[in-house]
Amino acid sequence: MLLIARRLLLGTALALSLPLAAQAQSPIVIKFSHVVSPDTPKGKGAQRFKELLEERSKGRVKVEVYPNSQLYKDKEELEALQLGSVQMLAPSLAKFGPLGVKEFEVFDLPFLFKDDAAFRNTTATLGLELFKKLDAKGITGLSYWDNGFHVMTANKPLHNLADFKGLKMRIQSSKVLDAQMRALGAIPQVMAFSELYQALQSGVVDGTEGTPSNIYTQKVFEVQKHITLSNHGHLAYAVVINKKFYEGLPADIRVVFDSSMRDATLYANAIAATENAMSLDKIKASGKSTVYTPTDAELLEWKKALMPVHKDMESRLGKATIDAAYKSAGFVAPK
Ligand code: LMR
Repeated sequence: MLLIARRLLLGTALALSLPLAAQAQSPIVIKFSHVVSPDTPKGKGAQRFKELLEERSKGRVKVEVYPNSQLYKDKEELEALQLGSVQMLAPSLAKFGPLGVKEFEVFDLPFLFKDDAAFRNTTATLGLELFKKLDAKGITGLSYWDNGFHVMTANKPLHNLADFKGLKMRIQSSKVLDAQMRALGAIPQVMAFSELYQALQSGVVDGTEGTPSNIYTQKVFEVQKHITLSNHGHLAYAVVINKKFYEGLPADIRVVFDSSMRDATLYANAIAATENAMSLDKIKASGKSTVYTPTDAELLEWKKALMPVHKDMESRLGKATIDAAYKSAGFVAPK
């Protein structure tokens, strides 16, 4: 009798204490998946966010960063986010189309941004409006992180429009980038970032556009003999989180989460330009790729060929979206 009572008591005590003990011990886990190297503006931003949040939450949150498409590739990662298999991502703005939020592709319009400031002004205004569109998809937009301007690579020099004719160029999934490559006379091919190096090496595609930081860390420069510093497009990211997960975070954790995101954003955006400049220097030093700065006349030829893309994309992006981007970017059409 006594033994049974003691067992019952013990059992009750265990049942009461275990969940509490387990609660105290097991942190909230955030899986943050991305497709680039840890040694990039995005990779370093994600790592900084992890460090800040883990420290500020005093270990109550654990952020697991999975770089290099380790968990998911481009398209799969957005699906995984919606399903809650990962909690955070930072896809490029060119990758939200398949999710049904095509307006982010406005950031891909060729020669829209004259500098980083023009880009940041656009994310701070139109960008915040566009975040609202993610809500219906079960996603919350947190921040915009810069990478930098796109350059063009191939195994032949790319100076004039004629040089693009018939080249198979890898692009991200954006329809604006598809139209851009066609306007240059190339054949666009959508491909996951993780497949890029192999595709260039084996000749599945002839060239690509990208930032120096990605071209360096993915070793693209080892399989592409020519790089043209065209700065025709801009690459940046929306840091996003599963909405239900975010809203379910305890209030005090939300406070440190938000402050960590704010500071990681400042950090990522502060290092982006230097990271790209350093990558370009390393590419030049390798001697594997010839880096070419186009003349004003060559750039004007590119710009003239690409401006019709802005008009053609009105039906996809909406004229109001394009006008808003023009205004915040201070865009002036080339003459
Ligand atoms: C690309 O696919 O080229 C980029 O979006 C990769 C990245 O995340 O920087």
